Amino acid sequence: MMKKIILDVDTGVDDALAIMYGAESKQLDILGITAVSGNVPLHMVMKNSRRVLKMIGREDVKVYAGADRPLFREADYEFRVHGEDGVGGALDHVEIAEEEESMFAPDFIIEQAKKYKKELTLIMVGPLTNLALALRKEPRIAEWIDEVVMMGGIVSEAGKGNKLPNSEFNIYADAEAASIVFKSGANMTLVSLDVTLKTFMTIEHIDQLKGTKYYDFVLNSTEVFRGFSKMRYGKNGCALHDPLTVGYVIDPTFLETKKYYVDVETVSPLGYGQTICDFRNLWEKEPNVNICLSVDAERFLDSFISTLKVTE
Ligand code: RIB
Ligand code: CA
Repeated sequence: MMKKIILDVDTGVDDALAIMYGAESKQLDILGITAVSGNVPLHMVMKNSRRVLKMIGREDVKVYAGADRPLFREADYEFRVHGEDGVGGALDHVEIAEEEESMFAPDFIIEQAKKYKKELTLIMVGPLTNLALALRKEPRIAEWIDEVVMMGGIVSEAGKGNKLPNSEFNIYADAEAASIVFKSGANMTLVSLDVTLKTFMTIEHIDQLKGTKYYDFVLNSTEVFRGFSKMRYGKNGCALHDPLTVGYVIDPTFLETKKYYVDVETVSPLGYGQTICDFRNLWEKEPNVNICLSVDAERFLDSFISTLKVTE
């Protein structure tokens, strides 16, 4: 039986690739997509997510609008990575109908968690604001949801964050929301930069899509992202942060995980959004998050590219 999932996104380039990968894998029953302010403002996230779904012929999947800002802080968008519209201008040609009124994303999460107790997997690939709001309204979803799989944080590679030296964007964008989620008691897995930076899609990987349905989109949507990677890492390509997070739900053997106690820094200006993993159990607290120790990067990249190699 296909796993029932909700995908929470801040579409963004790698979010778009994650939506495509999850849908084209044919392994996931996508109950809905929930949108949150993150890489770009919420209205762009909604538009980009709906355009991606139209491009892949999955307009049957509904997108639910969620939080248009973090719980406390001002939004901090990443146009320099994702382009002025969030998808590198690669969806301008995809026309979509006027957005219909929809249920607030946190309410949709609660509704589906209640309906599919212990059957629902939440895949969170943006800031955790929607899930934090849902938990505040209905804390019992922490027991009802089978697993929360989150792209975020950095736990082992000190100093290699992408927003602050020890902070990753999704957690940094709303650290208070992340703190609520990490303390919720839910069954959680954190797919962090420690592993996602190793699943780096190069221009050579993209070239393998030449002549197939999504080649133009993957090449064009990642242009700004790849330029930013060249500047920051000296490599032309993009780390598949969000697709790997979806990949873990499709095939958990892509990642080696182990449970530790993880907390989030919400005060220090130097470390706001830092995910602190207590590997030595100094705080003597009950482990709460499965963190990722290693990734089978090559096998995942093969799976990603072959899944997107759609011809018709
Ligand atoms: O740090 C990478 C994460 O932040 C990815 O989810 C990317 O889309 C942005 O949301
Ligand atoms: Ca994202």
